[in-house]
Parts: sequence; structure tokens; C-alpha cells
Amino acid sequence: LYGTSYINDFGHLTIGGVDVTELAEYYGTPLYIYDVKDIRDRALAFKKAFEQQRVDYQVAYASKAFSCIAMIELAEELGLSLDVCSGGELFTAMKAGFPAERIHFHGNNKTPDELEMALKEGIGCIVVDNFTELSWLMAMTESMKTPMKVLIRITPGVEAHTHEYISTGQEDSKFGFDLNSGQAEKAIKMLLNHEYLYLQGVHSHIGSQIFRAEGFEEAVKEIYLSIARWHQEMGYYPDVLNVGGGFGIRYGENDHPLPLHVYVDKMVETAKSEAAKLKMPVPEIWIEPGRALVGEAGTTLYRIGARKDIPDVRTYLSVDGGMTDNIRPALYQAEYEAVLANKANDEKTELVSIAGKCCESGDMLIWDVKLPPAVQGDILAVSSTGAYGYAMANNYNRILRPAVVFVEGGEHTCVIERETFSDLVRHERSYRHQCQLKD
Ligand code: LLP
Repeated sequence: LYGTSYINDFGHLTIGGVDVTELAEYYGTPLYIYDVKDIRDRALAFKKAFEQQRVDYQVAYASKAFSCIAMIELAEELGLSLDVCSGGELFTAMKAGFPAERIHFHGNNKTPDELEMALKEGIGCIVVDNFTELSWLMAMTESMKTPMKVLIRITPGVEAHTHEYISTGQEDSKFGFDLNSGQAEKAIKMLLNHEYLYLQGVHSHIGSQIFRAEGFEEAVKEIYLSIARWHQEMGYYPDVLNVGGGFGIRYGENDHPLPLHVYVDKMVETAKSEAAKLKMPVPEIWIEPGRALVGEAGTTLYRIGARKDIPDVRTYLSVDGGMTDNIRPALYQAEYEAVLANKANDEKTELVSIAGKCCESGDMLIWDVKLPPAVQGDILAVSSTGAYGYAMANNYNRILRPAVVFVEGGEHTCVIERETFSDLVRHERSYRHQCQLKD
């Protein structure tokens, strides 16, 4: 069981002190539930690890994992910084009243409009990704006479040992400046003499769902090889070393996440020893966890509908959601665990496969899971859906995006309402009407 969940006297799954079958009844399904206490505990675990290492730090929540006003408010309450990677995420952060100076802006193709928005809002820093962006930023800060702190994103050439779609640290990547070909040096030189841009430090993100703390050690060492050179050749030494996010979580029994402090200890200790070799101070260490803060805190409830038994082959149980609310199995072959929330103590005697309701054979949530005998109307709870679930939700087949509910201490509150059919056509105009206008 995850976070604060337990099974109550009725044999029902309970999260944050709330019986989830009651939530399914009250809000309908599918439904995303977030265990707020779990998010708090994880944020505190990261912060405590840094405090114990006695280094200056920032823990920035990577809001791409799950961005909405309530989540941003929670991040602010927890004293986190915020990583945004689009104008939409920045807008959401500002709407939630998040302090601009704690926002970091990422992305390999920030548009001039997005950069202007960031400059006007006076955010904490922009993580510069490439020369196009750098030249835009130089010109824009000059014409707007607006200063901005920047980090340069580099690719340290470290393999993350994760799915290739979520692996980003290798040299052949669309992200960041390459270290070996002199791109990073060139960018640093351009920044060091600039009137409005202040080069605060270096950023690297090696990938996602990483279980080896050594990956971060290797990245820090690799970056320091370059820092040593920059220091010697240009007298440049960073104030900030941002090691990115990517800390792995538990989706199922094959995942063995490390306690969060292990990652922090590894990267900070490596930075300390590398800095000592150069006789330089330890930079501020920043990280950007998304998944590790919200992933395990999220559970999705579905109602079981159709059943199809193919004798000696497979039993398909279909639910009222699927790749529209969780595209990760279809996109990354991601594996999930599930329980029957209203029969959580019953013996698991059936091996079944959980299908979504989209018109697509690939819309499978779980290929094999053991459940108690399930009937139509039972509530299926899929765990660890808090990161990149709602964030990547879509309206394929014109299916509605579910509601999102926060639970804590026996209380529940809806933070995102379920979409309605009218939402689907909200931005649409009749073509018939356009033809009439022309006549
Ligand atoms: N920092 C940067 C620069 C990133 O690109 C990302 C994720 C993060 C931090 C946060 O990574 P996390 O701690 O959440 O692993 N949709 C995929 C994940 C894509 C991750 C993109 N960047 C998935 O569902 O697994």
C-alpha cells in the first residue's frame, strides 16, 4: 500500500483517511485522487536531506508532472521552487500566486512570447537550452532593459538506464548544449560579457525514473570536468549546480526506489569533493523532482464495465477510462498495479487484463493483474498515477478528462472539476454558420 492508504473494516481501500469507494460515489469515475500528506512527506524528505548536508539548495517541483492551481499552491506552501516548461505552466503558476522569483523556466524551444512573459514576470531564472534562445534572450533583455539570471543546460553524456523516450542526458539529445564540441564554452563566453544576463550556473537532467544514485554522481563528476576547464580558461565558476530530476518511484513490484536522501547525499557529496579538488566553494545544489514528489501520491479510480472471457486465452475487464487519462502504458509500456477498492481484502483468484474504453487495441492499462472475482460496477484503484497522468490526459475519442480530488486527514476537496460534454465543443464554430456569413 502507498502513502497513507490502508484497508478499512468494510474491506475498502482508504486514502488520506477517506474511503475511496465513497469518493467514487460522490465524484463519479474515473477519478484522480491525491494523497496530500504523501506529497508533504516527500517534499520534507528532500529538504531534510539537504539541510543535513548543510549546503545551500533549492528543491524545485517539476510542474510538468502535474500542474494545476491547487498543486502549485501546495508546492508554494511546502517551500518548494517551481520548474515550468511552457507559457501555460508559467501562467498557471502565476495564477496560483506562486512567487515569480522561485520559478525556473525550461524548454528546448521557448518562443519569443514565452521568453517575454518570463522577463516581464521577473522569474528566478531561465534555463537556456540553445544558441537560438540565447540570441533571442540577449536581444530581448537589451531592448527591454530587463536583467535575467540564467543557467545553461548541458548534456553531460551520462546514460540514465531508463526508457529511451525519457532519457535526456546523452550527447545525441534535442536538449541542451553539448560539452564535447565546445558549444557550452561558447555559450558561457557569450553570457559572461552580457550586460543584462547573469550566468548563475549549470543545469543537467539525465532522464527520468532513475534508480541508480550513481547516475547523479557520474553526472556531477562529468560536469565538474568541464567546470575545472572553464575555471582555468575563463575564470568561470558556477554559483548554482542544478542536477535536474528523475528520481525513480514504485509503480510495481519490479521497481525498487531508493530513499530520497540517498540521491541527495550522492550528488551533494560528489559536488563537495569535486569542489574541494578545485579549492572552490560548493555551489548551491538545485534539484527538480516531479514524479518523486507526486507520482506515488496519485491513485486513479475506475468503474469496471464490460467483461470478455476468451477461454484459455485471457479475460479482459474494461474500465471507464484508459489511455485518455493514463497514456503511459501505451507510450512507454509502463506497468501499473491495481486493487479492487471495494473488495480490497478478498482473495485474488483471477488473472485479468485491464482495458481502457478507447477504440484502439493498444489502449490497455494493465496486461496481467490478479484480482478478486470482479463484476460490473466494482471500483478498480490503479496506484502511482500521480505523475504524468492528468498532465498527459487528452480527449481522444472525445472522452472527458476526469476530476481531481485532494484528500488529507479524512477530508476531501475537488481541485479540478470533471470536464463536461460542452467543454468539448467550447472552442468550436459551426462551418454552416461560416458559409452563411460568406453569402
Ligand atoms: N527537469 C527536467 C529538465 C525535465 O525535463 C524533467 C522531466 C524533470 C525535471 C522531472 O523529471 P521527473 O523527476 O518527473 O522524472 N512523460 C514521461 C516523463 C517525461 C519527463 C520529462 N522531463 C513519463 O510519463 O514518464
